[in-house]
Amino acid sequence: PLPASVKIIEVGPRDGLQNEQQTISAETKIELVNRLSQAGFPNVEAASFVSPKWVPQMATSSEVMAGITRRPGTLYSALVPNMKGFEAALAAGVDEVVIFAAASEAFSQKNINCSIAESIARFRDVAQAAKQHHLRLRGALSCAFGCPYQGEVTADSVADVVRQLRELGCDEIDIADTIGVATPRHVQVVMRRAIDEFPIERLSGHFHDTYGQALANIYASLEVGISIYHASVAGLGGCPYAKGATGNVATEDVLYMMQGLGIETGIDLDAVVDAGQFISDKLGRKAVSRAGNAIAAK
Ligand code: HMG
Ligand code: MG
Repeated sequence: PLPASVKIIEVGPRDGLQNEQQTISAETKIELVNRLSQAGFPNVEAASFVSPKWVPQMATSSEVMAGITRRPGTLYSALVPNMKGFEAALAAGVDEVVIFAAASEAFSQKNINCSIAESIARFRDVAQAAKQHHLRLRGALSCAFGCPYQGEVTADSVADVVRQLRELGCDEIDIADTIGVATPRHVQVVMRRAIDEFPIERLSGHFHDTYGQALANIYASLEVGISIYHASVAGLGGCPYAKGATGNVATEDVLYMMQGLGIETGIDLDAVVDAGQFISDKLGRKAVSRAGNAIAAK
């Protein structure tokens, strides 16, 4: 049987907007985060404390965190690549810090300018600091199904980094298809390997929809028993260090599917559709969510 309920993490304000070329005001980001938390998400990835030279769009992260209205029941997360980012995230009052590694050496170099081993060593300090300050710690694992620079990525290399993230004390680990190349059977093979290394109830699926496989890959993960998924409102996004990568699977589409499957999310789909139309209007384009646009047109 499929899980009776799932946790959906909304990553639009971070993964969705980080690659956007036009400058988006902090005010707009704040309204987006507020609309999403009000829709009932248990977790919103709201910010990223990375180098503004690398990802200029996230430079307003402190301002965004300071401006939002905290909803009890929503955890606010932020990406943190090193101690400098951790200090900023701590000062901004995030609930959860996300360290982000890769299953591919080539991607690790391009994305965070160091090897996988160096990144783990760097994250050790962040992980310790997070524990000390009683912040939740999440670990993201990019290129778990393929890499834009080195091509194939084995399930063994995924399992290897999952183990290292577990040893750092991660509360949750994200298996990410950065460039959206995975297909359902491949997803099941990799997820089953990851489950050998980390508790299934704390593993998540982070699927980009570049090749149109994301919903199918979520369904395949449900069959394996994975019960945490990341999604981006209006299908926003792409990764600045993964050329051609498109957005995460659209949240509206995921919620529509879960509703049809009778799987509980606790999220108000109509409110998410409104949030998707709001941010798409601000960006001056149509939302990428099929379900979102269909519902909005009714
Ligand atoms: P580096 O150049 O090797 O680092 O970058 P550095 O320590 O030499 O610092 C260079 C400059 O950046 C210095 O400034 C630092 O102070 C500053 P300068 O002295 O030149 O003026 N700096 C910072 N500033 C603000 N906050 C910080 C910070 N750290 C250093 N935290 C670094 C290494 C990791 C910093 C850089 O490569 C970086 O920021 N990378 C981030 C890349 C990124 O954000 N990628 C997108 C997110 S990952 C993703 O989207 C995938 C995911 O969605 C899952 C999936 O789909 O796969 C999570
Ligand atoms: Mg991503």
